[in-house]
Amino acid sequence: MRPMSTVRLGDWTPETWQARPASQQPAYPDAAATTRVLARLNGLPPLVSHGEVDRLRAELARVARGEAFLLQGGDCAESFEDCNAERISTQLGVLMQMSLVLMQGLGQRVVRVGRLAGQYAKPRSADLEVRDGVALPSYRGDLINSAPFTAADRTPDPELLLRGYERAALTLNYARALLDGGLADLAHPARWDHALFKAGPMSARYEALRVQLLESLRLMEQLAGQPLPERLRFDVFTSHEGLHLLYEQAQTRWVAERGRFYDLSTHFPWIGLRTATPGSAHLEFFRGIANPIAVKVGPGMDPAWVLELAALLDPQHEPGRLTLIHRFGAARIARELPPLLAAMRAAGRAPVWVCDPMHGNTEVTASGVKTRRFERIAGELEEAFRIHAAAGVPLGGVHVELTGEDVTECIGGTRGPTEADLERAYRSQVDPRLNHAQALELALRMAEAHATRHPTLRLHRP
Ligand code: PEP
Ligand code: CO
Repeated sequence: MRPMSTVRLGDWTPETWQARPASQQPAYPDAAATTRVLARLNGLPPLVSHGEVDRLRAELARVARGEAFLLQGGDCAESFEDCNAERISTQLGVLMQMSLVLMQGLGQRVVRVGRLAGQYAKPRSADLEVRDGVALPSYRGDLINSAPFTAADRTPDPELLLRGYERAALTLNYARALLDGGLADLAHPARWDHALFKAGPMSARYEALRVQLLESLRLMEQLAGQPLPERLRFDVFTSHEGLHLLYEQAQTRWVAERGRFYDLSTHFPWIGLRTATPGSAHLEFFRGIANPIAVKVGPGMDPAWVLELAALLDPQHEPGRLTLIHRFGAARIARELPPLLAAMRAAGRAPVWVCDPMHGNTEVTASGVKTRRFERIAGELEEAFRIHAAAGVPLGGVHVELTGEDVTECIGGTRGPTEADLERAYRSQVDPRLNHAQALELALRMAEAHATRHPTLRLHRP
């Protein structure tokens, strides 16, 4: 691998994106106030360190080689109001539990990344929302404006950038405290306990897995002749959609010892489907930062497009730099994914490939509720494992919208809500998330799909 300082960026600077068409950006009415806020943001400490970002890039390089699996998950949109202890610990808890199931089931190290501590800006299909003949700016996430349908709430307010930075810092601070304080210790009860698994059809499957894992750990301790070292405890990295470019630019810092710019608002930004167009401001901005970068890949993106993304974002074929998150939907993945896998392989490219089985499977019920069906989500994921195996290109991970709470937003799963139950606890402002039980069931399904193909790892089924 070349030393990083030789990465050539031509005339790139953190501002060059401003000469390109930037979609999905808010129109702030007060330019002077916006400039003041951005200068303030630029002077505050970064949220993450470049050392952590480099560590994640190295982990992702292992994923790309097929030696580890990436679990990326969290809310569709975090909200400022939900920035509290309970939510942060349940989000970490569900990621921990899923990762244990995956570790045991896939027989691989799992790299955990939350959609956490900064997932506050959302792309919208229309700039305006019209209700009863009144048109107001669409709600674009708490970083930009507020959800209630009033002119005051919907007008973009730059002060919210500071409120978002602060919420991200508070979230990260508490997440780090929980992880340091033992949440991630294997013996911690929150790692295992979930009322939904004490009884019911999934409890035996989960219990079998738990026993297997604890036995493996005991075996490792016996082999080592001592208790497992602290460093076996887990990390959680952060990610969010790199959508609001002024916000990302203000948190981009030159790191002299690496000779590169890092976006230190998060470890792992991703470029959404709506902003990944060739020539876009988003591609221009993210090509110049040193973080690992992910791009959503969806319906209509052909091999030439994806090869262009790779050439632009990862000209040096840097291990762990590029992740492609495909989100075609259960109905289209079999047709649209194989040509991309083949083209990238033929071009000598080995990005991290991740399946997002959520965003291509969104539907609206007859009564107008946005939902997703568990069977379609699990089905797309199983199809993704099959397609990747057939192409000889490892599926490196999964990207899901989930919450540790007992919401009723997605339909199905062993004990999941029916269509009629959706209104009971539908809390998402944007996309429907898997609830705690559905998220764990999805992890079990993945583990079992894998075990079916690798009989030596077959899980004990009741
Ligand atoms: C998202 O991940 O919330 C999202 C908007 O996804 P996509 O860009 O794939 O539509
Ligand atoms: Co979403």
